[in-house]
Amino acid sequence: VRPERCVVAVDGPSGSGKSTVSRRLATAIDGIYLDTGAMYRAVTWAVLQAGVDLTDVDSVIKVAQETDLSIGTNPLAPHFEANGVDVDAAIRGPEVTGAVSAVAAVPQVRAMLVQFQQDIISGAPRIVVEGRDIASVVAPDADLKVYLTASAAARAQRRSAEDATDVAATEADLARRDKLDSSRAADPLKQADDATELDTTGLGIDDVVNRLLDMLNSKVSS
Ligand code: DC
Repeated sequence: VRPERCVVAVDGPSGSGKSTVSRRLATAIDGIYLDTGAMYRAVTWAVLQAGVDLTDVDSVIKVAQETDLSIGTNPLAPHFEANGVDVDAAIRGPEVTGAVSAVAAVPQVRAMLVQFQQDIISGAPRIVVEGRDIASVVAPDADLKVYLTASAAARAQRRSAEDATDVAATEADLARRDKLDSSRAADPLKQADDATELDTTGLGIDDVVNRLLDMLNSKVSS
């Protein structure tokens, strides 16, 4: 499949396989890849660097507005910078992971990043965008909308294999973040009405990518 133009929205909770699948799909359609979670993480990194208290919403917004983000969209090697600093490793660290849900709950931060995401999407012929609110808010006109899920155990297993942490602790942390992300007032994590749900528990990456390619094929050729 290599449609002339297409936008694919991939939403779902952490550990559902979104990132790996989205990068592989973007590569397969010769498109670019946008990791919106990394954008919230990069802003969170800047907030922590600035020493701002997470409950001081005005200061969080101010840091977000003043942070110069460079968002890589190469699906083979996405690279991120905040204020000229390479943050690829830091945004996956425990400090940022622990704080990102609070920053992502601030409506003004979301509005800013959504605008940025929409600008990137409108300039790209083929793009796979992953996040929590892509199908519902960022790209409601996407050609294909998928909502990836997996059992809590499978998600924790994948995450702890990625960052070499304890499975039980990871499962607890995922549950905590899911709760925060789904219960926040601004654009909570939830499946869009017109998204296709795909449970990836027990499926290999190739299986998932091939299913999405089939879906995309039937969407863009019909
Ligand atoms: O997918 P991730 O773990 O990198 O996402 C990091 C955080 O950002 C997570 O707490 C949910 C939030 N997020 C969001 O609110 N909206 C998005 N489009 C992407 C991520």
